[in-house]
Amino acid sequence: MRVLVLHGPNLNLLGSREPEVYGSFSLEEVNAALDERAQARGIELQCLQSNHEGDLIDALHDAGAGTADVVLLNAGGLTHTSVSLRDAVVASGLPVIEVHLSNVAAREPFRHVSLIAPVAVGQVVGFGVDSYLLALDGAIATVRARQP
Ligand code: DQA
Repeated sequence: MRVLVLHGPNLNLLGSREPEVYGSFSLEEVNAALDERAQARGIELQCLQSNHEGDLIDALHDAGAGTADVVLLNAGGLTHTSVSLRDAVVASGLPVIEVHLSNVAAREPFRHVSLIAPVAVGQVVGFGVDSYLLALDGAIATVRARQP
């Protein structure tokens, strides 16, 4: 099983960016925790971060063309604005799990809307780095449940 983890804009600044909201761990530490969990589960993991919408869309196209079986997507602020990213999720034909470090529902009203949520398998929000780890287990369960 191949899992693609996509981190969107500003997530490269984890650790220094609003640590009271997002935590003090770096993106490298998030990816290392995911790698460790993936190894323990015996699955392949690829992590990618971009500040550019088009890069994330390209990555979803590649995943849909056969490079991944399931995607964890933290689209950052694009979650709340990007029709194009949502369209790419649908076009990928893959199960996509939406992830957020913070509890977006408890924050500013503009963060309460997710354009991704209606086309995602589900959301994991508000658990910091554990959001990703829980989402990874959800992704594995999703793919296994769809296997014949
Ligand atoms: C975020 C929440 C978004 O609203 C915000 O724009 C981010 C991070 C999160 O992981 O909590 O960049 O996706």
